[in-house]
Amino acid sequence: MKRRVGILISGRGSNMMALIEAARAPHFPADVVVVISNRPAAPGLALARAAQVKTLAIDHRQFASRESFDAAIDAALESEGVELVCQAGFMRIQAAPFARRWLGRQLNIHPSLLPGFKGLEAHKQALQAGVRISGCTVHFVTPELDAGPIIAQAAVPVLASDTPDTLAARILPVEHRLYPFALWLTATGRARLEEGRVILEASVNQTECLISPAASFA
Ligand code: GRF
Repeated sequence: MKRRVGILISGRGSNMMALIEAARAPHFPADVVVVISNRPAAPGLALARAAQVKTLAIDHRQFASRESFDAAIDAALESEGVELVCQAGFMRIQAAPFARRWLGRQLNIHPSLLPGFKGLEAHKQALQAGVRISGCTVHFVTPELDAGPIIAQAAVPVLASDTPDTLAARILPVEHRLYPFALWLTATGRARLEEGRVILEASVNQTECLISPAASFA
């Protein structure tokens, strides 16, 4: 049985497309059943529609409070029978009750090696800190921003000549490999949240995960 996945976006949607494309493989353990954007003009919505995935725009500006916006997202996810939520460039912070309700069932991708460089402008923060390696992280979402238990990470070099844009361009294709891998781990139950930590099943090749996501994992 494939797990029903809902993706939350706010913009471009390249990670969303990586998930949609991975989920097209017959043996992938998840199906993307809905894409929801808080921004009606998000380019990702058109990409999802072109890929035959149901889309919804739930504009946060139409809601009086964070909680009422969260409740509308929650209701939409429930009505689509969503079991796992993937945030992919979703630029709204959720109130704690939503994060708690979906705890262990909601993933996010962030373009740094967490716990370093949380929040906005992660690439710029990494360059300012002078790190030689950066990368991306998929983690379970908790009420604290970008601080949830880590499912998978992948690394790239930081070059002396890098700008935030060149570093972002090196990390992004790695995100597109890492996110489907992390969703695969979670949807198959190979990664699960237990007492605030991610437990990886013994069969997962952890050495390979550490260096880079496995090239093939289906
Ligand atoms: C990605 O870099 C992701 O890590 C961050 O926001 C960006 C979204 O890009 N959270 P896209 O919309 O998936 O193309």
